[in-house]
Amino acid sequence: MNKKITFLGIETSCDETAAAVIRENEKGTADILSNVVSSQIEEHKEFGGVVPELAARAHLENIEFIIDKALKDSKISLKEIDGVAATAGPGLIVCLTVGLNIGKSIAAFSNKPFVGVNHLEGHALSPGLENKIKFPYLLLLISGGHTQYLIVRDVNHYEQLGTTIDDALGEAFDKTAKMLDLGYPGGPAVEKFSKLGEKDYFKLPEPIINKAGCNLSFAGLKTAVLRESKKINNDEKLKYNLAASFQNTINKILYKKTKIAIQEFKNKTKEKKVQLIVAGGVAANKSIRENLTALSKEINCKTIYPDLKFCGDNAAMIAWAGIKRFKKNLIDNIDISAKSRWPLDSNAPYMKGPGLKL
Ligand code: KG4
Ligand code: ZN
Repeated sequence: MNKKITFLGIETSCDETAAAVIRENEKGTADILSNVVSSQIEEHKEFGGVVPELAARAHLENIEFIIDKALKDSKISLKEIDGVAATAGPGLIVCLTVGLNIGKSIAAFSNKPFVGVNHLEGHALSPGLENKIKFPYLLLLISGGHTQYLIVRDVNHYEQLGTTIDDALGEAFDKTAKMLDLGYPGGPAVEKFSKLGEKDYFKLPEPIINKAGCNLSFAGLKTAVLRESKKINNDEKLKYNLAASFQNTINKILYKKTKIAIQEFKNKTKEKKVQLIVAGGVAANKSIRENLTALSKEINCKTIYPDLKFCGDNAAMIAWAGIKRFKKNLIDNIDISAKSRWPLDSNAPYMKGPGLKL
């Protein structure tokens, strides 16, 4: 019988301080021996967004306790762990450095291999924690900093089909919540209040909907929400109508662009049956899930979502990516440093900035 690999994972790329111990199981998925996440909602609430210095300080204050708790909860000792993985990018350097340094130190003093994980690969492989999924699959990665369609051909092997040319989807949710004063964190607040409104009340733009393949854009939509929000004078009902119309517009955009991405995936992989995986913090949104599940039924593809606890940032997905990389011998040196930008597909064109032609 093959030895089942166990990893300690550490995540500090943004505003969650997290550690987890994960072991492969017979089914080819993961046993979650522990999964500890400390969110910094209280620290950033007052500012309506993540403040890097505050986030870094909170990581520093909490990280030792969180790792200790993850090890204790897992009921196994450091000796029994086969390796340590920590997020090395992309993200806020001051935050990444906290988890990366402590991860490297633990690996060094316990003489274990170390894997520096790309946070996006953590999200990309996260559905594998609970589902046996075969490669290739189509990934829609929707988080606070990224929005991408990718072909996941294998661990460490990604091909980008489309991306946002301006804001990330999570960012659009967060800004909408801020403009409508719906509370923090923004995504869940918009989702909650949109249920109380009329989804067709406001006609909002769907930027680049009929061009640029499966690339996306949310800046024009955000500006339209700002414009309408100024007109509604804090009228509660209109606010909910605007939140609902925003959510509905996002659903329409994702429906259309995902359909295009599925076709591109089919053309490039020659796969007949498409597996669509939706991952990242925004994948927790139930309305988006229902919308994409309806699309996949219509065109006979299979949709897989991570459990809600693995959508937002967590260290289980980092430990899991660590295990997957370790098994392919993708081990890092202890001198690996944090990277603020780190695309999964290094050949993908950079799609932001002035002069972009679509
Ligand atoms: O993956 P994640 O936890 O962190 C990043 O890697 O960025 O994603 C965070 C993003 C935030 O923008 C948050 O507002 C959004 O995910 N989010 C949601 C929901 N839950 C979290 N957006 C829409 N609906 C939700 N239910
Ligand atoms: Zn994330």
